[in-house]
Amino acid sequence: MGTVYLVGAGPGDPDLITRKGARLLKVAGAVVHDALVSPKLLDEVSVGAELHDVGRRAGTKRLEQSQVNELLIELAASHEVVVRLKGGDPFVFGRGGEEAIALKAAGVSFEVVPGVTSGVAVPAYAGIPLTHRGIASSVTFLTGHQVTSPIAAGSERTAWLIGDGTIVVFMGLLRVDAIARGLVERGLSPETPAALIESGTYPSQRTVTGTLADIGDRLRGIEVSGPALIVVGEVVALRDRIRWFQEEGGRPG
Ligand SMILES: C[S@@+](CC[C@H](N)C(=O)[O-])C[C@H]1O[C@@H](n2cnc3c(N)ncnc32)[C@H](O)[C@@H]1O
Repeated sequence: MGTVYLVGAGPGDPDLITRKGARLLKVAGAVVHDALVSPKLLDEVSVGAELHDVGRRAGTKRLEQSQVNELLIELAASHEVVVRLKGGDPFVFGRGGEEAIALKAAGVSFEVVPGVTSGVAVPAYAGIPLTHRGIASSVTFLTGHQVTSPIAAGSERTAWLIGDGTIVVFMGLLRVDAIARGLVERGLSPETPAALIESGTYPSQRTVTGTLADIGDRLRGIEVSGPALIVVGEVVALRDRIRWFQEEGGRPG
Protein backbone atom coordinates (compact mmCIF):
# COMPACT_ATOMS: atom_id res chain seq x y z
CA MET A 1 0.00 0.00 0.00
CA GLY A 2 1.29 3.44 -0.95
CA THR A 3 0.49 6.84 0.49
CA VAL A 4 -1.93 9.34 -0.97
CA TYR A 5 -0.84 12.98 -0.69
CA LEU A 6 -3.65 15.53 -0.83
CA VAL A 7 -1.64 18.36 -2.35
CA GLY A 8 -2.70 21.97 -2.80
CA ALA A 9 -1.60 23.17 -6.23
CA GLY A 10 -2.07 26.85 -5.42
CA PRO A 11 -4.35 29.24 -7.28
CA GLY A 12 -2.91 29.16 -10.80
CA ASP A 13 0.58 30.69 -10.99
CA PRO A 14 2.62 27.46 -10.99
CA ASP A 15 5.29 29.05 -8.77
CA LEU A 16 2.78 29.19 -5.92
CA ILE A 17 2.84 25.46 -5.13
CA THR A 18 4.77 24.54 -1.96
CA ARG A 19 8.23 22.96 -2.21
CA LYS A 20 6.82 19.77 -0.70
CA GLY A 21 4.02 19.64 -3.26
CA ALA A 22 6.45 20.20 -6.15
CA ARG A 23 8.78 17.48 -4.86
CA LEU A 24 5.94 14.97 -4.58
CA LEU A 25 4.72 15.74 -8.10
CA LYS A 26 8.11 14.73 -9.48
CA VAL A 27 8.16 11.35 -7.72
CA ALA A 28 4.48 10.39 -7.91
CA GLY A 29 3.56 7.19 -9.72
CA ALA A 30 0.02 8.48 -10.21
CA VAL A 31 -1.48 11.98 -10.17
CA VAL A 32 -5.21 12.62 -9.87
CA HIS A 33 -5.97 16.25 -10.62
CA ASP A 34 -8.75 18.81 -10.86
CA ALA A 35 -9.70 21.16 -13.66
CA LEU A 36 -8.38 24.26 -11.89
CA VAL A 37 -4.80 23.03 -11.70
CA SER A 38 -2.23 24.90 -13.80
CA PRO A 39 -1.28 22.85 -16.90
CA LYS A 40 2.33 23.96 -16.26
CA LEU A 41 2.34 21.98 -13.01
CA LEU A 42 1.28 18.85 -14.86
CA ASP A 43 4.39 19.21 -17.03
CA GLU A 44 6.42 18.51 -13.88
CA VAL A 45 4.92 15.06 -13.44
CA SER A 46 7.39 12.32 -14.41
CA VAL A 47 6.93 10.82 -17.87
CA GLY A 48 5.97 7.35 -16.69
CA ALA A 49 3.34 8.48 -14.18
CA GLU A 50 -0.39 7.87 -14.64
CA LEU A 51 -2.38 11.09 -15.01
CA HIS A 52 -6.08 11.12 -14.13
CA ASP A 53 -8.14 14.24 -14.84
CA VAL A 54 -11.20 14.14 -12.61
CA GLY A 55 -11.95 17.87 -12.88
CA ARG A 56 -15.39 19.25 -12.41
CA ARG A 57 -16.09 22.31 -14.49
CA ALA A 58 -19.13 24.55 -14.03
CA GLY A 59 -22.15 22.63 -15.24
CA THR A 60 -20.33 19.36 -15.93
CA LYS A 61 -19.65 16.48 -13.63
CA ARG A 62 -16.97 14.16 -14.78
CA LEU A 63 -16.61 11.83 -11.81
CA GLU A 64 -18.73 11.61 -8.69
CA GLN A 65 -16.85 12.29 -5.46
CA SER A 66 -17.34 8.65 -4.41
CA GLN A 67 -15.70 7.54 -7.68
CA VAL A 68 -12.72 9.83 -7.03
CA ASN A 69 -12.39 8.34 -3.55
CA GLU A 70 -12.47 4.82 -5.01
CA LEU A 71 -9.86 5.74 -7.62
CA LEU A 72 -7.49 7.05 -4.95
CA ILE A 73 -7.89 3.86 -2.90
CA GLU A 74 -7.31 1.73 -5.99
CA LEU A 75 -4.18 3.67 -7.05
CA ALA A 76 -2.70 3.43 -3.56
CA ALA A 77 -2.68 -0.35 -3.97
CA SER A 78 -0.27 -0.17 -6.89
CA HIS A 79 1.76 3.03 -6.40
CA GLU A 80 4.05 4.07 -3.58
CA VAL A 81 3.25 7.77 -4.05
CA VAL A 82 -0.15 8.96 -5.26
CA VAL A 83 -0.69 12.71 -5.55
CA ARG A 84 -4.21 14.07 -5.40
CA LEU A 85 -3.58 17.55 -6.82
CA LYS A 86 -6.27 20.08 -6.02
CA GLY A 87 -6.60 23.75 -6.93
CA GLY A 88 -5.70 26.18 -4.14
CA ASP A 89 -5.80 24.46 -0.77
CA PRO A 90 -7.31 20.96 -0.48
CA PHE A 91 -9.26 21.85 2.65
CA VAL A 92 -10.81 25.11 1.43
CA PHE A 93 -13.95 24.28 -0.57
CA GLY A 94 -11.93 21.48 -2.10
CA ARG A 95 -13.61 18.38 -0.66
CA GLY A 96 -10.21 17.28 0.61
CA GLY A 97 -11.78 16.40 3.95
CA GLU A 98 -14.13 13.93 2.28
CA GLU A 99 -11.23 12.26 0.52
CA ALA A 100 -9.22 12.06 3.73
CA ILE A 101 -12.15 10.43 5.54
CA ALA A 102 -12.62 7.88 2.73
CA LEU A 103 -8.90 7.05 2.70
CA LYS A 104 -8.82 6.61 6.45
CA ALA A 105 -11.89 4.37 6.36
CA ALA A 106 -10.20 2.22 3.71
CA GLY A 107 -7.01 1.96 5.76
CA VAL A 108 -4.96 3.92 3.20
CA SER A 109 -2.27 6.19 4.65
CA PHE A 110 -2.42 9.80 3.55
CA GLU A 111 -0.89 13.20 4.18
CA VAL A 112 -2.27 16.67 3.56
CA VAL A 113 0.04 19.16 1.85
CA PRO A 114 -1.65 22.55 2.22
CA GLY A 115 -1.67 24.96 -0.68
CA VAL A 116 -2.07 28.69 -1.19
CA THR A 117 -5.80 29.13 -1.41
CA SER A 118 -7.17 31.31 -4.18
CA GLY A 119 -9.16 33.04 -1.42
CA VAL A 120 -5.93 34.65 -0.23
CA ALA A 121 -3.71 34.70 -3.32
CA VAL A 122 -6.17 36.04 -5.87
CA PRO A 123 -7.08 39.20 -3.93
CA ALA A 124 -3.34 39.69 -3.26
CA TYR A 125 -2.59 39.59 -7.00
CA ALA A 126 -5.40 42.08 -7.53
CA GLY A 127 -3.81 44.46 -5.00
CA ILE A 128 -6.48 43.87 -2.34
CA PRO A 129 -5.26 43.10 1.20
CA LEU A 130 -7.89 41.02 3.01
CA THR A 131 -7.21 42.75 6.30
CA HIS A 132 -5.83 46.23 6.74
CA ARG A 133 -5.25 48.13 9.95
CA GLY A 134 -8.16 50.47 10.61
CA ILE A 135 -10.18 49.17 7.68
CA ALA A 136 -10.85 45.43 8.03
CA SER A 137 -9.94 43.08 10.84
CA SER A 138 -11.55 39.79 9.82
CA VAL A 139 -12.17 37.70 6.71
CA THR A 140 -15.01 35.32 5.88
CA PHE A 141 -14.87 32.76 3.08
CA LEU A 142 -18.31 31.89 1.67
CA THR A 143 -19.74 30.13 -1.35
CA GLY A 144 -22.13 31.89 -3.70
CA HIS A 145 -24.82 29.46 -2.63
CA GLN A 146 -24.64 30.57 1.01
CA VAL A 147 -25.35 34.16 0.02
CA THR A 148 -28.19 33.46 -2.38
CA SER A 149 -30.09 30.84 -0.39
CA PRO A 150 -33.20 32.23 1.33
CA ILE A 151 -32.56 33.95 4.63
CA ALA A 152 -33.55 31.69 7.49
CA ALA A 153 -34.97 33.14 10.66
CA GLY A 154 -32.72 33.88 13.59
CA SER A 155 -29.00 34.05 14.01
CA GLU A 156 -28.07 32.53 10.65
CA ARG A 157 -29.01 35.86 9.11
CA THR A 158 -25.84 37.60 10.13
CA ALA A 159 -23.68 34.78 11.41
CA TRP A 160 -20.98 35.56 8.87
CA LEU A 161 -21.36 39.33 8.64
CA ILE A 162 -18.64 40.13 11.10
CA GLY A 163 -18.19 43.83 11.84
CA ASP A 164 -15.90 45.54 9.36
CA GLY A 165 -14.74 42.23 7.90
CA THR A 166 -13.92 41.38 4.30
CA ILE A 167 -16.05 38.76 2.54
CA VAL A 168 -14.62 36.46 -0.13
CA VAL A 169 -17.17 34.57 -2.19
CA PHE A 170 -16.10 31.41 -4.02
CA MET A 171 -18.04 29.86 -6.89
CA GLY A 172 -20.24 32.90 -7.36
CA LEU A 173 -19.56 33.84 -10.95
CA LEU A 174 -22.91 32.85 -12.40
CA ARG A 175 -24.87 34.69 -9.69
CA VAL A 176 -23.12 38.00 -9.12
CA ASP A 177 -26.37 40.02 -9.11
CA ALA A 178 -28.06 37.65 -6.67
CA ILE A 179 -25.00 37.59 -4.42
CA ALA A 180 -24.77 41.39 -4.30
CA ARG A 181 -28.51 41.57 -3.55
CA GLY A 182 -28.20 38.86 -0.92
CA LEU A 183 -25.42 40.72 0.89
CA VAL A 184 -27.43 43.95 0.90
CA GLU A 185 -30.51 42.08 2.18
CA ARG A 186 -28.33 40.76 4.98
CA GLY A 187 -27.30 44.22 6.07
CA LEU A 188 -24.35 45.42 3.96
CA SER A 189 -24.51 48.91 2.49
CA PRO A 190 -25.15 48.96 -1.28
CA GLU A 191 -22.13 51.30 -1.45
CA THR A 192 -19.75 48.64 -0.12
CA PRO A 193 -16.86 48.25 -2.59
CA ALA A 194 -16.83 44.92 -4.46
CA ALA A 195 -14.52 43.29 -6.99
CA LEU A 196 -14.73 40.29 -9.26
CA ILE A 197 -11.35 38.77 -10.10
CA GLU A 198 -11.19 36.30 -12.95
CA SER A 199 -8.34 33.80 -13.49
CA GLY A 200 -6.42 35.25 -10.58
CA THR A 201 -2.62 34.86 -10.60
CA TYR A 202 -2.62 33.81 -14.28
CA PRO A 203 -1.29 36.24 -16.90
CA SER A 204 -4.93 36.49 -18.09
CA GLN A 205 -6.10 37.81 -14.69
CA ARG A 206 -8.81 40.43 -14.96
CA THR A 207 -10.42 42.51 -12.22
CA VAL A 208 -13.68 44.44 -12.37
CA THR A 209 -14.49 46.72 -9.43
CA GLY A 210 -17.59 48.57 -8.33
CA THR A 211 -19.98 48.49 -5.40
CA LEU A 212 -22.62 45.98 -4.36
CA ALA A 213 -25.13 48.27 -6.06
CA ASP A 214 -23.45 48.27 -9.47
CA ILE A 215 -20.99 45.37 -9.77
CA GLY A 216 -23.59 43.32 -11.68
CA ASP A 217 -24.09 46.15 -14.18
CA ARG A 218 -20.35 46.67 -14.56
CA LEU A 219 -19.97 43.05 -15.54
CA ARG A 220 -22.77 43.12 -18.07
CA GLY A 221 -21.42 42.42 -21.55
CA ILE A 222 -18.07 41.17 -20.22
CA GLU A 223 -17.54 37.51 -20.93
CA VAL A 224 -15.99 35.84 -17.91
CA SER A 225 -14.85 32.32 -18.67
CA GLY A 226 -12.17 31.57 -16.05
CA PRO A 227 -12.69 30.83 -12.37
CA ALA A 228 -13.65 33.93 -10.42
CA LEU A 229 -13.75 35.22 -6.87
CA ILE A 230 -15.85 38.06 -5.52
CA VAL A 231 -14.29 40.22 -2.80
CA VAL A 232 -16.51 42.56 -0.81
CA GLY A 233 -15.44 45.17 1.71
CA GLU A 234 -13.74 48.53 2.14
CA VAL A 235 -10.34 46.93 1.45
CA VAL A 236 -11.30 46.69 -2.24
CA ALA A 237 -10.83 50.46 -2.49
CA LEU A 238 -7.13 50.04 -1.58
CA ARG A 239 -6.54 48.37 -4.95
CA ASP A 240 -6.03 51.75 -6.61
CA ARG A 241 -3.03 52.36 -4.35
CA ILE A 242 -1.60 48.84 -4.17
CA ARG A 243 -2.12 47.14 -7.52
CA TRP A 244 1.15 45.65 -8.71
CA PHE A 245 0.32 42.74 -11.01
CA GLN A 246 -0.11 43.73 -14.62
CA GLU A 247 -3.33 42.12 -15.80
CA GLU A 248 -3.97 40.77 -19.29
CA GLY A 249 -0.35 40.32 -20.24
CA GLY A 250 1.75 39.25 -17.29
CA ARG A 251 3.93 40.80 -14.67
CA PRO A 252 5.14 44.38 -14.90
CA GLY A 253 8.77 44.88 -15.77
C1 LIG B 1 -14.19 24.32 -5.86
S1 LIG B 1 -13.54 25.84 -5.36
C2 LIG B 1 -11.91 25.35 -4.98
C3 LIG B 1 -11.17 26.33 -4.12
C4 LIG B 1 -9.73 25.93 -3.87
N1 LIG B 1 -9.67 24.74 -3.05
C5 LIG B 1 -8.90 27.04 -3.22
O1 LIG B 1 -8.45 26.88 -2.08
O2 LIG B 1 -8.68 28.04 -3.89
C6 LIG B 1 -13.36 26.64 -6.93
C7 LIG B 1 -13.55 28.15 -6.83
O3 LIG B 1 -12.35 28.74 -6.34
C8 LIG B 1 -12.21 30.02 -6.92
N2 LIG B 1 -10.95 30.05 -7.69
C9 LIG B 1 -10.06 29.05 -7.79
N3 LIG B 1 -8.98 29.43 -8.52
C10 LIG B 1 -9.21 30.72 -8.87
C11 LIG B 1 -8.48 31.68 -9.63
N4 LIG B 1 -7.29 31.39 -10.15
N5 LIG B 1 -9.02 32.91 -9.80
C12 LIG B 1 -10.21 33.23 -9.26
N6 LIG B 1 -10.96 32.35 -8.53
C13 LIG B 1 -10.46 31.12 -8.34
C14 LIG B 1 -13.41 30.24 -7.83
O4 LIG B 1 -14.41 30.90 -7.07
C15 LIG B 1 -13.79 28.81 -8.14
O5 LIG B 1 -15.16 28.73 -8.53
